[in-house]
Amino acid sequence: AQKSLKEAYAAYFPVGVAVAPRNLAGADAELIRAQFSSLTPENAMKMGPIHPAPDRYFWQDADQIVGFAEQNGLKVRGHTLCWHNQTPSWFFTDGEGKQVTREVLLDRLKEHIQTVVGRYKGKLYAWDVVNEAVPDGGTDIYRRSKFLEIIGEDYIEKAFEFAHAADPNARLFYNDYNTESDSKRERIFQLLKKLKDKKIPVHGVGLQGHWSIYEPTAAALEESIRKFAGLGLEVQITELDVSVYPKEHARRERQPSDSDVLTKEMEARQAEKYQMLFDIFRKYKGTLTGVTFWNVSDKTTWLDNFPVRGRKDYPLLFDQNSSPKEAFYKVVTF
Ligand code: XIL
Repeated sequence: AQKSLKEAYAAYFPVGVAVAPRNLAGADAELIRAQFSSLTPENAMKMGPIHPAPDRYFWQDADQIVGFAEQNGLKVRGHTLCWHNQTPSWFFTDGEGKQVTREVLLDRLKEHIQTVVGRYKGKLYAWDVVNEAVPDGGTDIYRRSKFLEIIGEDYIEKAFEFAHAADPNARLFYNDYNTESDSKRERIFQLLKKLKDKKIPVHGVGLQGHWSIYEPTAAALEESIRKFAGLGLEVQITELDVSVYPKEHARRERQPSDSDVLTKEMEARQAEKYQMLFDIFRKYKGTLTGVTFWNVSDKTTWLDNFPVRGRKDYPLLFDQNSSPKEAFYKVVTF
């Protein structure tokens, strides 16, 4: 019989998937139950969605996802406690719209992390504590953000300390993308090394894994895994998808060359890339402790219309009818 993802990788790592409440019924729910062993809320636990106003939390979506996981014996990875995106502006301002002080923002960050991590204590095995704090280009380690501007560089340490205090058993991750570029890998390494040297409770690094049929190379990915693992950190792939388009960060508008179908050639190249990736993931058994896909199937992926408006993408292992693609068979056969 055909092995599922979670069966094929039972001896290696949990295979997770990012979900919204709408995925917890119908064909998506069936696919989740059959194939995956872990869930990540795609948006429901981010600062904006879960904490829309100073004195108000919105728990319904996050609770529903955690409830589904409990009913179906799935692990849950939390995402994310501190990020420059999807954070409401009230966080940084007082009642009159004036920017708050370092002390006030630290108090808010602490209260937020205590409340969210505390609510799911013992139910989530891991958290992306700080997301995307390192900029893509240049030589800076710290991305310019309100957290950096108002609190200073130690907002990152504080976030990890607050999370650790709220759930001492949760595995705590720093999570980022473009982790295979030489310059960003180096700067993320410097950040993580600083945290480790200061005995900050950081246990792992999340490589988002928003890749494409053109990147990364095996050598670049292995270099990242080895380099971060050298700090004594576990490594997880937290947001895996393999776009069938080159990453053209500057381009925003659809071109005639963009495809309305997944061509045979794209599918074959994608299958090859997924095979290469999972060959590497298995090679780092013990170090590589989790792989999470960012969405269930090609029916709905966050890459539809992103970064190019009006363009569909096909980055996952299951097609728009929830059927396994060529890439799926490459991943489960080894
Ligand atoms: C994305 C979600 O998938 C979208 O639904 C939302 O509109 C924007 O955020 N890096 C991350 C994720 O860490 O939180 C992002 O998720 C994708 C990029």
